[in-house]
Amino acid sequence: MLRNSETRFGLVTIVLHWTIGLLILGLLLLGFIMRRTGIDPALQFALYQWHKSFGFAALGLALIRAIWWLVERTPSPPASVSPLERKAARLTHDVLIVLGIVMPFTGWAVASASTLNIPSFFFNMIVIPHLPLARSETSENFWTFAHALLAYVTLALVAIHAAAALFHHFKRGDEVLTRMLRPGVRPVGAGSGGTSVRKRDDAAVGRK
Ligand code: HEM
Ligand code: HEM
Repeated sequence: MLRNSETRFGLVTIVLHWTIGLLILGLLLLGFIMRRTGIDPALQFALYQWHKSFGFAALGLALIRAIWWLVERTPSPPASVSPLERKAARLTHDVLIVLGIVMPFTGWAVASASTLNIPSFFFNMIVIPHLPLARSETSENFWTFAHALLAYVTLALVAIHAAAALFHHFKRGDEVLTRMLRPGVRPVGAGSGGTSVRKRDDAAVGRK
């Protein structure tokens, strides 16, 4: 139930997936909004601080997620997923896991390299120290560019990733999406492949 089995995602993976997913989508939106010119400066400052706080939260969760992902097995894909799709999905997931860590680090680097030297608060509770980076306009511009570039890359990958999940659900009618929505969804694979998947799954349930 908590852990992944051979064919299902457990509760820990599912909760981490959707919490981090929502945080990243929210941070992308907030990031693009707060960068708009013409916003009231006091509101803009507050939005930057919220962005940094939620960004640090995303970083903490992404690190936990990456450790969990390294120590935990990845359920094998449903029988309906072709070998090429498996490779593409695996690559996308690997890159998203890495981006979940690198993305907030580049944001942290922007705040650290800024000549304005504004402290980063974690939800007004603690001050997060700056990274040991040179504080200059060139350095700030570089990290700002890297952070924005990775934001667009993340957005593009998430769009492809979410579209693939919806395609599987509505066009293929398989359990790719449902097994990431609730733990313990039984595979619906038909034929011998489905039967063997079910057998392996029952064995996994007995073991956990
Ligand atoms: C917005 C809508 C989203 C939908 C509908 C969605 C859907 C899914 C589904 C169905 C899976 C399981 C795929 C499989 O069985 O192999 C999955 C896995 C995954 N998703 Fe998402 N996802 C979304 C957003 C995100 C976001 C924003 C991120 C991170 C930036 C993300 C990162 C991942 C990763 C890393 C996995 C692999 C999980 C693992 O193997 O442990 N997803 N997603
Ligand atoms: C997954 C986490 C994060 C995401 C998805 C994200 C996303 C974004 C986006 C989309 C922008 C606007 C880019 C642009 O159009 O120029 C932005 C800007 C910014 N982010 Fe993040 N961010 C994250 C984490 C962080 C963290 C942890 C910090 C700092 C501690 C941070 C600090 C900043 C700053 C200072 C800017 C404004 C840069 C400028 O003035 O041009 N971000 N972020």
